[in-house]
This record gives sequence, C-alpha cells and structure tokens, in this order.
Amino acid sequence: MSNTKRIPYLINLIDKEYSYIWDLCCDHGNIGIGLGQKFPSTKIIFNDIIPSITNALREKLESLPKLNSKRFKIITVDAKKLKIDKDNSLVIIAGVGGRQAREFLEEILRSESQNFDLLLCTHYQQEELREFLIQKNFGLLRSELIFDKLRPYEVLYVSREVENDIPSFSTELLNRDDVAAREYFTKKYRYLEKKRNKSENELKAQEEIKGLLKL
Ligand SMILES: C[S@@+](CC[C@H](N)C(=O)[O-])C[C@H]1O[C@@H](n2cnc3c(N)ncnc32)[C@H](O)[C@@H]1O
Repeated sequence: MSNTKRIPYLINLIDKEYSYIWDLCCDHGNIGIGLGQKFPSTKIIFNDIIPSITNALREKLESLPKLNSKRFKIITVDAKKLKIDKDNSLVIIAGVGGRQAREFLEEILRSESQNFDLLLCTHYQQEELREFLIQKNFGLLRSELIFDKLRPYEVLYVSREVENDIPSFSTELLNRDDVAAREYFTKKYRYLEKKRNKSENELKAQEEIKGLLKL
C-alpha cells in the first residue's frame, strides 16, 4: 500500500475492544492515544525507556479530556522488563526494527505474561521476527505492507487464538500491481539470490517470489 499514514492506519486496523492496550516504545504516544479515544472503556498502558519522553507524555495525556488519568498508566522501563499481567491485552510495538521487536518479545514471553495479541509495525529484519512468531505459535489475523514517507513497514496483527500460518517471507504481501511493493520484493529476491547456503525455507521463498514477480 503506497504512501499510507502509518499511525492512522494502525488505529483503524483494530476493531476488537481489548481491556488493555500496551503501547510499547510509545514515544509521542499517538498510537495508544488514538486507540484510547476509539475505545473509551479500554485502559492504555504506555511504555518508553526515556524518562524525559514519558514525562512529556504524562503532561500531554493530562490535557486530553477523553483520556483521564484513571484510564492510562505510564511505565518508564526497558520494554524487555515488562510483564504483560492483564488478560485480554493487545501489545503494540511500532516504529522499531524487526530484530529489536523480537528481542523485546523474547524477554516478555519468558516472564509469566498472560496471553495477548500483538500489533507490530516494523522495518527491516522481518524474517527474524516472523520466524520467532511462528515458533511461539502466533497465527495471522492481518498483515499489510505500508510505505510511510517512502519507508517500508510490515504490519503484523497476530494472535495465539488463531491458526492461520504466518508466511516466513511475507509473500502474502506481494501485490504485483503496486510499484513500491514490487520494488520491495525485488530487493528481497535479490538478497535471497545472492545468499549462500540457503535454508529450505529460503529456497522456497526465492522461487515463490520469483514466480509472483514473474522475474
Ligand atoms: C521511533 S520511536 C517509535 C515511536 C512510536 N511507537 C511510533 O511507532 O511512532 C522508538 C521509541 O522507542 C523507545 N525505546 C528504545 N528502546 C527502548 C526500550 N528498550 N524499551 C522501551 N522503549 C524503548 C525510544 O525511546 C523511542 O521513543
């Protein structure tokens, strides 16, 4: 999807009313704020590691009428240290690399966290992230390739409550009619083509992408 505004897209994507939404690495907090305004009964938990960011966010939140202080919590800590201790939660990690998101999730899932759905919007290292989600039995609810200010992001909305397989190499996102998507997948293909000692999965993906792109 060429030139999509990332944050409104993510807010629009969520239809389910969760009891808790965790906006990790939240920075400006606009994803959590937008979802808090969309779902007035949901509690929003914001996280960022930098105290000056969370202090500024607290001031911003206190000035927003629909998001009074009973509905939000701010946790200033390394996202790896979080324990998702609330049932019916959606955890969001957006605007970071796929590897970093994977590292956060590895630690979060090591703690005795509750079951939760995940909304991820990452750039780079998508295969590493997908491999991890597959190992941890997440299934695909929705995915999209978006370009915000020309930067590609893969959006993954996943849950352990569904059994739809997550493709390892994002092939479900390949839309031949979209020029930007074609370019994105041509780069993936060139990378696989050059790679030595490819796994069976990589060989399969290379063939699949080649076929879909009609290279
Ligand atoms: C590029 S911003 C993303 C903001 C927002 N999620 C978005 O999608 O627009 C990345 C944020 O991650 C925060 N961050 C980096 N490492 C972190 C960590 N280990 N734990 C929590 N937050 C972290 C940074 O302070 C920064 O505010």
